[in-house]
Amino acid sequence: MKISIVGTGYVGLVTGTCFAETGNHVICVDVDENKIAKLKRGKSPIYEPGLDSLLEKNIKAKRLSFTTRLKSALEEADVLFLCLPTPPGADGSADLKFVMQVAEEIGKLTSEMSKSAGSQAGSVYKLIVTKSTVPVGTGDKVREIFRKYTGVRLEVASNPEFLKEGSAIQDFMFPDRVVVGVEDPRGEEILSELYRPFVRTGAPILVMDIRSAEMVKYAANAFLATRISFMNEIARLCERLGADVDKVRTSIGYDNRIGPKFLFPGIGWGGSCFPKDVKALIKMGEEASVVTRLVSAVNEVNDEQKGIIHQKIAERFGEKLIGKKFAMWGLSFKPKTDDMREAPSLVIIDKLVKAGARVDAYDPVAVPNAKMLFEGKKMKGSVRFLEEQYEVLKDADALILVTEWQEFREPDYEQMKKLMKGLIIFDGRNIYNPEKIRSLGFEYYGIGRK
Ligand SMILES: NC(=O)c1ccc[n+]([C@@H]2O[C@H](COP(=O)([O-])OP(=O)(O)OC[C@H]3O[C@@H](n4cnc5c(N)ncnc54)[C@H](O)[C@@H]3O)[C@@H](O)[C@H]2O)c1
Repeated sequence: MKISIVGTGYVGLVTGTCFAETGNHVICVDVDENKIAKLKRGKSPIYEPGLDSLLEKNIKAKRLSFTTRLKSALEEADVLFLCLPTPPGADGSADLKFVMQVAEEIGKLTSEMSKSAGSQAGSVYKLIVTKSTVPVGTGDKVREIFRKYTGVRLEVASNPEFLKEGSAIQDFMFPDRVVVGVEDPRGEEILSELYRPFVRTGAPILVMDIRSAEMVKYAANAFLATRISFMNEIARLCERLGADVDKVRTSIGYDNRIGPKFLFPGIGWGGSCFPKDVKALIKMGEEASVVTRLVSAVNEVNDEQKGIIHQKIAERFGEKLIGKKFAMWGLSFKPKTDDMREAPSLVIIDKLVKAGARVDAYDPVAVPNAKMLFEGKKMKGSVRFLEEQYEVLKDADALILVTEWQEFREPDYEQMKKLMKGLIIFDGRNIYNPEKIRSLGFEYYGIGRK
């Protein structure tokens, strides 16, 4: 099949590459010229395990190409996937300007195409599939835009994406399920055919109306965020009441009705999806006059949780941190990604710097993105992003473990002791064994642990 992907970011690039891997011809479009130039050289602009080799293979096989021109991508393809950003607007709702702009452009371009196709125009069919996470009703809005333009038949569909950064290729290749929102049988046929190679082990393709498909993604993310916020609240209680949240988490996770995933307490969820999707769901509720009490509380718990490390530091060192230096391990919102969007590290750095501290931070892959985010910021002098794990520890009063990358799990404690001024560890992800750490001579502060 001939496919175009509009928006070549984390979702678009993985989607395009995986569809090319199953033999389709894929054109990826993006307005970011630097990104496209890099991709044309076979280089991925994002860090995602396993992506580089798949990219290289499919570019070589001439199944995957890149362009900044939507027109050529539209002319070539039968199916277009919109993988555009839907960032939070000022009021928390999903900002649909990118999706709507591209929908207008597609309408205009197809209308021009149909004029030059003359009598053949009526037989041209294009399926426009929204893969971006969009509020319920967006499919209808996109269809309304298309109705303004005549000639080519443009059908809309929704196909929310559930991949996780860090295991995106695996998630796309072996999905738990594929959700497809369609309104005509041809759309269902096309999407079922495209996804058939990915569901051979029995995962279902769940076909439904577009509005339900749009809601699935928000419900899934809000539920996962709820599990984490719930455990963070339990962690606070554990800490106060002398229980150990790790024991509680493991024990409830063995209950088949609960399961072990997304129950890890920490420093709050971040990233490009949970924060914006939870806020957008609350906003959707407001607009529909439905009070989303539970989801709103989930969001509030998380906002508080992002301050938990700073709170522990203030309890240990006092509110004023002038002259103190903190080492930070991990910057990305979770391991195996360079994504810094809404990363809890940003809140921690901000609070520490405001209290007068200096921060030296290291991350295996997110340092370039972090540097870009801090460019031109006032606090720049107080924060350094370094390329070496142990260099940040030099003369540090304490280490803050922010992202649970594998390489932080078994560090060289002797080297740490030589480099650090204060032997104190704030473990934001509970990756260390408190007894072991304390027996080595460190002070240890975890989340929800005795
Ligand atoms: N990142 C994830 O893990 C993830 C997972 C599931 C769903 N989603 C959803 O998928 C959507 C995309 O997310 P992402 O993380 O890939 O975003 P992203 O910011 O990484 O990528 C979006 C891309 O779209 C491009 N773009 C913007 N305007 C354009 C235009 N007019 N024409 C062509 N390209 C344009 C941008 O340059 C960018 O490269 C969002 O709605 C997000 O909520 C993301």
